[in-house]
Amino acid sequence: MINFEALFKISYGLYIVCSGDKSKCNGFISNTVLQVTSEPARFAACCNKDNYTAGLIQKYAAFSVSIMDKDATPEIFGRFGYKSGKDFDKMAGMALNYGSTGVPIVTNDCIAFIECKLVQTIDVGTHLLFIGELVDADIWDDTKEPLTYLYYRQVKKGVAPKNAPTYIDKSKLVAKSKEPLPRKYECTVCGYIYDEANERVRFTDLPESWVCPVCGSKKTDFIEISRNI
Ligand SMILES: Cc1cc2nc3c(=O)[nH]c(=O)nc-3n(C[C@H](O)[C@H](O)[C@H](O)COP(=O)(O)O)c2cc1C
Repeated sequence: MINFEALFKISYGLYIVCSGDKSKCNGFISNTVLQVTSEPARFAACCNKDNYTAGLIQKYAAFSVSIMDKDATPEIFGRFGYKSGKDFDKMAGMALNYGSTGVPIVTNDCIAFIECKLVQTIDVGTHLLFIGELVDADIWDDTKEPLTYLYYRQVKKGVAPKNAPTYIDKSKLVAKSKEPLPRKYECTVCGYIYDEANERVRFTDLPESWVCPVCGSKKTDFIEISRNI
């Protein structure tokens, strides 16, 4: 039997991948960016075919990757990881730079960036693997640390939504133990976990007007979960 928990032992970083130009642009949160060759320096970014950004990367043949700060705010995850540019202007109000290829580069909550021209697109099923060649890179704040997926999951209590390549359906995960108190409740919209162990109020005692601190969904959008994830 496959132990899908083992997949959580693979290390990743967290990034905002963007494309477009000054008139039309968008970006999404990704934990699947990696360097694949050294000379020339090439990078892979795995993007769900349904992501609005996928079409932009193909059209503009370039993309930027902003490397997220360890202290990135939950709002940036709500904006770039749980909403789509199909129905929301994610870039409005963001501090953007534009690279030599013309693509936008998000600087909010990020410490460094790379910019790539698209050299190859590989269809891997649900996702497209974009291969880009490095055209620019710089560090904005050398005093800060990059955010890792492990820190995002374990400390920030974040999860990856269905569009992420590393999403694992909970039915595939083995329950670690019988449900202990205190309980945990998960936002079915963004995956935020309300863990009673870290809160002073039981979830059931929260007022009906309470909303998810990450994406603003209603209390009724939460479900109780029965294991540590
Ligand atoms: C932690 C995290 C990691 C993610 N990783 C990826 C990824 O590697 N590839 C991907 O296609 N989507 C990933 N997603 C999902 C996209 O960010 C999400 O579907 C986004 O809303 C797509 O935006 P767009 O439609 O505006 O392009 C991730 C989301 C989160 C929160």
